Amino acid sequence: MKVRVHVHAFEERNSLLIWLKGRPVLVVKDGDKLYGMDAVCAHMGCAILSEVNGTTAMCPAHGAKYDVTNGKMIEKPNVKPEIPCEQEQIKLPLKTYKVTVGEDGLLDVN
Ligand code: FES
Repeated sequence: MKVRVHVHAFEERNSLLIWLKGRPVLVVKDGDKLYGMDAVCAHMGCAILSEVNGTTAMCPAHGAKYDVTNGKMIEKPNVKPEIPCEQEQIKLPLKTYKVTVGEDGLLDVN
């Protein structure tokens, strides 16, 4: 699906959040590659908006980390053992998207 985001948007950042059919999707640029991944954390539903480092995205709520290349959780949420955790309900991996750049420079996210 073509989105109204030009590849020039990555000249000053390495990640951005787009909306795809009503879902927040994190798009990350690493070198000359682009990756897309659902931006809603599988732990308790917080959006993944911060601290993208390379191809790793961290949830600001409890620190779970995801690999945006495959949607896998690479570090579990940091919650105290005595606090109930919804981990048994985690649906992983997060959905990922193929991101390409069209001849017009706009992103195509599928
Ligand atoms: S909601 Fe993301 S780690 Fe808890």
